[in-house]
Amino acid sequence: MGQKVLVIGSGAREHAIAHALQRGGSVEEVTVAPGNPGMELDGIRTTHIAESNHAALIDFMKDNGYDWAFVGPEVPLIDGLVDDFAAAGLKAFGPDKAAAQIEGSKDFAKQLMERHGIPTAKYATFDALDPAVAYVREHGAPIVVKADGLAAGKGVTVAMDVETAVAALDDIFIDHRFGNAGAKVVIEDFLEGQEFSLMSFVNGTEFWPMPISQDHKRAYDGDKGPNTGGMGAYSPVPQIPQSVVDEAIETIVRPTVKAMADEGTPFTGILYAGLIATADGPKVIEFNARFGDPETEVVLPKLTSDLAAGISAILDGETPEFTWDDDRVTLGVVLASDGYPTNVVKGAKIPTIPVDEDSHVYYAGVSKNEDGELVASSGRVLFVETSAPTIKDAQDKVYAVIDALPTDGMFYRHDIGFKALK
Ligand code: AMP
Ligand code: GLY
Repeated sequence: MGQKVLVIGSGAREHAIAHALQRGGSVEEVTVAPGNPGMELDGIRTTHIAESNHAALIDFMKDNGYDWAFVGPEVPLIDGLVDDFAAAGLKAFGPDKAAAQIEGSKDFAKQLMERHGIPTAKYATFDALDPAVAYVREHGAPIVVKADGLAAGKGVTVAMDVETAVAALDDIFIDHRFGNAGAKVVIEDFLEGQEFSLMSFVNGTEFWPMPISQDHKRAYDGDKGPNTGGMGAYSPVPQIPQSVVDEAIETIVRPTVKAMADEGTPFTGILYAGLIATADGPKVIEFNARFGDPETEVVLPKLTSDLAAGISAILDGETPEFTWDDDRVTLGVVLASDGYPTNVVKGAKIPTIPVDEDSHVYYAGVSKNEDGELVASSGRVLFVETSAPTIKDAQDKVYAVIDALPTDGMFYRHDIGFKALK
């Protein structure tokens, strides 16, 4: 009998996790809560339980004999879902509430890095407008202003001049744009260099790094427009040399895993390091306590080992095995509702998307209308991923599919992967 696994979350990331779990041999049944109806096209079950309803998720696990759960998004992790599962005698893969602070509070992450000499931008934390403005005026630009708590990737202003930074502080402290997330602000030095994402499976003391990837956070082509949750990704990132990845593993991932364990908040789950390759070596811009979205949708297709077997080994205190197809180049593009991220216009019809066996469509913000058709129901709608021998081939292939679709009511970037092709 195979394992029964519940995936918690509803986005394209959770679709990719569920799909990867299904591909391995050890899983008999995967259900996603709450999931979305696009996942059902892959034969993935969904159940209408909100990720915030811990008691109902626990009941589902017990009533249906599920073996363990995978928690996809940050909010239930930071809200202590893994702790509640443990208290109910259930296994869930992800950090507990204490360890999830590495994402939940930028101040927590910054202090941890400072205490342990982990390379990151210099910073200061403020809980009032006037001293924050004084710091910005004294320090000058470029400078980066971040709301302390969770703001879904939208709480960061990279200010190229002082007035932009001051306006961002006004937004946070006077207009309360991020609610509680803006009660504290982290102001940090601007780091120059290419970004990359380095994710690892972690068991509390040891870690297994995945291939690196690169996200595209700005809404429009050429990295223009507002920051979003991410508009596309690819893996590997050839302009980041392996020596820089190795350095990041030794100077960032290893000491962070050790620091969390030494300080009594051991991290189990997926540790996501958002890094910038500066002239001075790789430095941390953020940690996440979970898989990245959309990075997961280009990284997990390269996994050649059984995902569920690896994770259940970690949950059982055994040594997992993770192997990757390093020759495979993956690239994918987000289709988003018009107006995303600021004024999302829902309701676009989702076309049928013809893809070959080396490609996949991962669904995010979709629901069914009265006629049973899929329609867009939030900002990021779906992700079209493909693999090919080179980044250029993958890019050509994915845009050949997307450009031929009726995409009324949605938009996408036309240049995913451009930094690798310069
Ligand atoms: P975050 O939500 O912390 O990942 O920040 C969102 C985006 O802002 C990042 O992906 C970077 O593009 C940019 N960013 C954040 N911190 C810095 C920094 N210290 N220097 C330069 N860019 C940054
Ligand atoms: N793609 C960035 C994130 O998942 O936070």
